[in-house]
Amino acid sequence: MAGTHLQILGICGSLRRKSSNLAALRAAGELMPQGMKLEIADIADLPMFNQDVLDAGVPAPVARLKAQIAAADGVLVASPEYNFSVTAPLKNAIDWVSRLPDQPFQHKPVALLSASIGPLGGARVQYDLRKILVQLWAYVLPRPEVFIGMAATKFDADGRLTDETTRKFIGDLLTGFRDWIARTARK
Ligand SMILES: Cc1cc2nc3c(=O)[nH]c(=O)nc-3n(C[C@H](O)[C@H](O)[C@H](O)COP(=O)(O)O)c2cc1C
Repeated sequence: MAGTHLQILGICGSLRRKSSNLAALRAAGELMPQGMKLEIADIADLPMFNQDVLDAGVPAPVARLKAQIAAADGVLVASPEYNFSVTAPLKNAIDWVSRLPDQPFQHKPVALLSASIGPLGGARVQYDLRKILVQLWAYVLPRPEVFIGMAATKFDADGRLTDETTRKFIGDLLTGFRDWIARTARK
């Protein structure tokens, strides 16, 4: 436990400034049940994974991300799908921390959501992410699943989530995640 509240680390699979997934993460930050707090990680400055770089020493942005994941009670990933799968920045971030001693996804509760301009809301990225995170022994919340399809119609020009149904889905996901963290917490 990170203290009296549950500390959640948000990781966004899109580096775009006006990313709908980042906007969804920010909405999740507002919709968190009492006692949960969200901090959003920055993965834009991670170099591309290269074993030679790792052999020369863990890059500072990678060490920072690992420490943030390790300190969090849970990780909330929001990502679009790129070509039906995981985005390069997100996969790169996961690959980096997976190669460190005490890789931080081990036994870490994780919840997923995805937003996309298409009708499926990035559903396919979630199944690929589950496969990857299970291999790292993360505890990925099975349900509820949140797919934000037609994302361009659900956020306003300032990136505020205006769609009430989606706000409710995210609220339900966070309540489920809070209970999942309690169920999976290592004593
Ligand atoms: C390289 C690339 C591949 C994409 N592939 C898909 C895809 O397979 N399925 C989909 O629904 N959207 C796809 N998109 C569109 C994204 O859903 C859209 O750009 C979305 O807004 C990205 O999320 P963001 O707003 O968080 O940046 C792709 C976009 C890019 C840049």
